[in-house]
Amino acid sequence: MNKKIAFFDAKPYDQKSFSGMNSDYGFDISYFDAKLTPQTSDLTIGFAGVCVFVNDNINAKVISRLVENGVEIIGLRCAGYNNVDFKAAYEKIHVTRVPAYSPHAVAEHAVAMMLTLNRKIHKAYLRTREGNFSLNGLLGFDMFGKTAGIIGTGRIARCLIAILKGFGMQILAYDPRPDEAYAESTGLRYVELDELYAISDIISLHCPLTTETSHLINRNAIEKMKPGIMIINTGRGKLIDTIALIEGLKSGRVGTAGLDVYEEESDYFFEDKSAAMITDDVLARLLTFPNVIVTSHQAFFTSEALRNIAQTTLSNFKEYFAGGYLANEICYRCDSNCIKQQGKRCF
Ligand code: NAI
Repeated sequence: MNKKIAFFDAKPYDQKSFSGMNSDYGFDISYFDAKLTPQTSDLTIGFAGVCVFVNDNINAKVISRLVENGVEIIGLRCAGYNNVDFKAAYEKIHVTRVPAYSPHAVAEHAVAMMLTLNRKIHKAYLRTREGNFSLNGLLGFDMFGKTAGIIGTGRIARCLIAILKGFGMQILAYDPRPDEAYAESTGLRYVELDELYAISDIISLHCPLTTETSHLINRNAIEKMKPGIMIINTGRGKLIDTIALIEGLKSGRVGTAGLDVYEEESDYFFEDKSAAMITDDVLARLLTFPNVIVTSHQAFFTSEALRNIAQTTLSNFKEYFAGGYLANEICYRCDSNCIKQQGKRCF
């Protein structure tokens, strides 16, 4: 299939996994370092499809340029889709995503952050290298018997819950669409957010970013949490009001935070900025806390996930250009983003 695909925000590891997988598909892929923005959208002239990631900005202006340039399909090589204006895309251009490439990868990273923060592995690593073998300040707690509050109980959360149950933790969960059969089979309890905030020792975010969940973790929510709470965010940066989190960390109300995502990550994450000044004062402040770990949207980054991402993204393009059903299409139909997964094209 010799269709031309413009691949934005391409990193060496993307090129390796997509070029390897593309030998089974035969697309004509051009890799661009640039993110897809209104300024770079004319790079798509002559392309039938574009392939984008989490920090490409697929707003109405970009969509309109893509359509003018003859692009028929936007293939997101990620699960989240908060960076696409679906209202603008509807009936003009098809949008597909990779709904699940490795929920295990993200769940395991969330656990890595929990254990690192709890047992202060990041500090111990540096200490012993400096010849400091003291334990002062490294005191942790048993995970066994503690309560984890999980917000959103989709694919990633379910992998995480399975791991945390292995530690012997109690699980509370909040989801506007609770799955009672799943709750019964795993022994978790669905509760309202206030109860989850009040009882949990660790809170982990696994819901999508929507208008409803934007700044879900704000000053008000933090005040309802147990003093010393551990907050883990591998979802999307905007789920947390970062200024409120910093206030909570300064006051000691928030004990620790593991952040794989950040509200304003697009200028920094995935890039080597080690030779530059950090001009984002909020990010710079976050990086000063000894009880905060920031990873650079890394949770998905396993070889299994990269392989699945490449395969599903290229299959999505193949399905589209073959004129068949589009199982992973996302569409805007009602008054909010909806995902039509009935195995056919939306228009
Ligand atoms: P999923 O679609 O399987 O599950 C999402 C769950 O959130 C669903 O059960 C849904 O009912 C629930 N939900 C919806 N609105 C909610 C609300 N207002 N409050 C609480 N729960 C709500 O999604 P999956 O695959 O588990 O991914 C979750 C999120 O993780 C994605 O939306 C994405 O933003 C993020 N993600 C992050 C990655 C990383 O590398 N850091 C990689 C992949 C996904």
